[in-house]
Amino acid sequence: MAEFRLGVNVDHVATLRQARGCDYPDPLEAALAAERGGARGITVHLREDRRHIQDSDVIAIKNGIATKLNLEMAADGEIVEFACKLRPADVCLVPEKRQELTTEGGLSVAGREDFIGAAVSRLREAGIRVSLFIDPDPAEIEAAAAVAAEVVELHTGSYAEASGAAQVRARLDELRKGAGDAAGLGLIVNGGHGLTLANVAPVAAIAEIEELNIGHSIVSRAIMVGIEQAVREMNETCLAARKSAADG
Ligand code: PXP
Repeated sequence: MAEFRLGVNVDHVATLRQARGCDYPDPLEAALAAERGGARGITVHLREDRRHIQDSDVIAIKNGIATKLNLEMAADGEIVEFACKLRPADVCLVPEKRQELTTEGGLSVAGREDFIGAAVSRLREAGIRVSLFIDPDPAEIEAAAAVAAEVVELHTGSYAEASGAAQVRARLDELRKGAGDAAGLGLIVNGGHGLTLANVAPVAAIAEIEELNIGHSIVSRAIMVGIEQAVREMNETCLAARKSAADG
């Protein structure tokens, strides 16, 4: 079983700040608290409309954290150039629609290999590891390998939103198969979206998954118990699920 990393997405700390247009709470301070709670990476999404995280947050977090920065962004020329200058450890390419509340669905790579492939090679040339946020769909997994991404982040949103035991099982089977197929093609496998303390365990137990990126549920829980504790709870839940899967 691959070693596990919890990546904590601090976008919603910036959401709270932007709601008032003031200078607190500070996403970097939250990132440092997340690291103290056991985060092995910090994730931020620099959206085209800059609705939460700002360019200056990304720079401050990249320079201030001790772990690694995973920058989520669209395969858009201006943001690709920003990333190439900043050189975070990882970039995760995501689809982006201005009107959406959060990222809806995975990136379409199949059929757009030239466009996505050009962004992947530009970022890789800058020394950045590139991940593609895709649904656990065989065609997308093959396309991710074809455009030479090193990592796929499997979209766990359909699993998180599934209702009823049969649907949950079906979505989980898709994630398990997707993780196996992606690893079989030499891709590093991450996951994320919609994960909570209540639904994370079966996903964390998938042996090929190395990293889960979790934001909204951790930041929400942090309102009650603080970020360090919220991250600790999530990390312990993931690690316990992995241990019990490994022990059979
Ligand atoms: N991974 C990706 C690619 C995302 O776009 C998001 C949401 O920004 C997350 C993980 C985290 O999702 P959530 O906030 O639902 O935990």
